[in-house]
Amino acid sequence: MKIKDRIEGDKINLRFITKGDALSIYQYAADEAISRYTHIPHPYNLDDAYDFVKLTQSDRKRKAAYHYGLENRETGQIIGMIGLIALFPMHRKAELGYWLAKPFWGRGIITEAIEKIVEFAFVTLKLHRVYAHVFPDNKASIRVLEKCGFTREGLIREGFVQRGKYVSVYMYSILEDEWAKRDLT
Ligand SMILES: CC(C)(COP(=O)(O)OP(=O)(O)OC[C@H]1O[C@@H](n2cnc3c(N)ncnc32)[C@H](O)[C@@H]1OP(=O)(O)O)[C@@H](O)C(=O)NCCC(=O)NCCS
Repeated sequence: MKIKDRIEGDKINLRFITKGDALSIYQYAADEAISRYTHIPHPYNLDDAYDFVKLTQSDRKRKAAYHYGLENRETGQIIGMIGLIALFPMHRKAELGYWLAKPFWGRGIITEAIEKIVEFAFVTLKLHRVYAHVFPDNKASIRVLEKCGFTREGLIREGFVQRGKYVSVYMYSILEDEWAKRDLT
């Protein structure tokens, strides 16, 4: 199984990140609009970004997760992240996570990036299920997942702690046969 270090798209490229990307990850991930709906700490500092780059490398070595930076096709800069952030080979499933810097929202970038990473999950890794947790008021993320063929399974009640409070999240998923039969029109 060949894990690609780079996946090209029309709107965005996905690539592995290095420590040279930490500054731009820090600059964008420090935005409260990103931490609000993710588990990215706030405030977020440059050392957090360096630690994150190292985590992506060790996760990959251990085959525990595959994180890709979202590379701006014009500048080469990393403007977000997407990944299979937890892999369970025994169950052939993985958790999907993503964020995109606010100046780039609303251009269909994450829709394309999810399509690419889900293809990687089902075709390259031969997984059976990809799932994602979403806060119920995160309308943009819900819309994106539904556009990409994910189904809402239910609410995980107070399953996470976010900023010191228990929060409930929707569980969304897509199965390999649903992905193969998805409507591409
Ligand atoms: C969620 C997020 C990844 C979306 O990225 P994006 O590249 O802007 O998404 P896209 O442009 O591919 O699609 C966004 C869709 O949501 C819709 N949308 C945006 N805001 C919306 C809202 N408040 N209510 C309903 N729909 C909304 C857009 O219209 C678009 O749908 P359309 O193509 O049918 O018009 C981005 O906003 C983000 O990074 N948010 C913060 C972090 C986060 O929430 N991560 C996900 C955790 S589950």
